[in-house]
Amino acid sequence: MPLVFLIKIKTTGHLMKLNSTFKLGALALSHRIVMPPLTRMRAGADGVPSPFAAAYYAQRATPGGLIIAEATQISQQGQGYPQTPGIYTDQQIEGWTQVVKAVKGKGAHFVLQLWHVGRISHSSLQEGGALPVAPSAIAPKGNAFTSTFGRVPHEVPHALEQDEIKDIVAAYKRAAENAMKAGFDGVEIHAANGYLLQQFLEDNSNLRQDIYGGSIENRARLLFEVLAAVAQVWPLDRIGVRLSPYSDVGDMADSDPAALYTYVITKLSQQGIAYLDLIEPQARAGLSAEKNLAAPESVCTLFRPMFTGPLIASGGFTAQTAEAALNAGIADLVGFGRMFIANPDLPKRLVSGAALNEPNPKTIYGGGEAGYTDYEFLDGQTA
Ligand SMILES: Cc1cc2nc3c(=O)[nH]c(=O)nc-3n(C[C@H](O)[C@H](O)[C@H](O)COP(=O)(O)O)c2cc1C
Repeated sequence: MPLVFLIKIKTTGHLMKLNSTFKLGALALSHRIVMPPLTRMRAGADGVPSPFAAAYYAQRATPGGLIIAEATQISQQGQGYPQTPGIYTDQQIEGWTQVVKAVKGKGAHFVLQLWHVGRISHSSLQEGGALPVAPSAIAPKGNAFTSTFGRVPHEVPHALEQDEIKDIVAAYKRAAENAMKAGFDGVEIHAANGYLLQQFLEDNSNLRQDIYGGSIENRARLLFEVLAAVAQVWPLDRIGVRLSPYSDVGDMADSDPAALYTYVITKLSQQGIAYLDLIEPQARAGLSAEKNLAAPESVCTLFRPMFTGPLIASGGFTAQTAEAALNAGIADLVGFGRMFIANPDLPKRLVSGAALNEPNPKTIYGGGEAGYTDYEFLDGQTA
């Protein structure tokens, strides 16, 4: 065997699983390296994706790869930060259509993450200056973003009435229809990171005494109502759900996360969704100084046996730990968040073992092309 061939096997062989094909619901993937949803706060004030978004996503698209677009509000009420995109007006649908075309032009699969932030919003972002909404009138600790990038303590949210909850479910359905109009390949329901659906799931933020509060089944009701509404639009094999069990992002906590997420994940498994997208608590390392000591080392390891469909893991992975997780059967695909921000050609770099660019913390949120579309490719180009 020629030496050069042996060297090739040696350098790429250890990441063979990461670079192998996978069937994710209806989508045929060419590799297991996923770009997870990443909020960048560069949309117009009207929630239309930035004119640079098409180039940014297309740079990160690979033939047969999977990109999950940044969290996108289903309604103005669902917005929690300035300059995040929406999917509820014709202009927003048109803006996303251009981004989808660019990503699909590179042969990648593109899924939209549907978002309602609940109590994480601020009245300056709400129609008529209304209060943010939540399962119960409990303000999370910490600061909200105002519409002008200010930081102020969170307000006490308005506890949703049942007819208002119905309106939110209807808004998810319309957003799902709009995502289809824009040409996406599927949608992901964001039930993680302390936003509305997780606020209903966990009992530090949900003190309701009606059918949406109390028992685990009741607290999970809204998530499954939203899933049912979205499933009237999309086939289940094009719907994913993202969860962050044991995460304290957004001041979340639950008295029995093991029981709660066992129920939710088992039920999601029975429904046959395209995939479950789990965020490892270790993702906090680097995202926050605090560490949730009650969290298990790996929620993917803990909950994998309860979900028979495909599982995407995110949170602090390197190429090596991702490959190990795939080989151990803990996950089927791995999301690389911060590394995808700084490395447009991340799959190529991970598979070849090339050096990685570091993200610039100053340009993560807000701004224009700088720190967005100008990270260098391996060949020194930016496109
Ligand atoms: C700048 C930034 C923005 C993010 N935006 C979102 C988002 O819109 N939706 C979401 O579900 N997760 C979001 N996340 C979490 C990432 O998808 C990912 O799970 C997390 O960064 C852990 O992966 P990593 O350690 O590879 O960065 C964000 C993370 C970062 C750093």
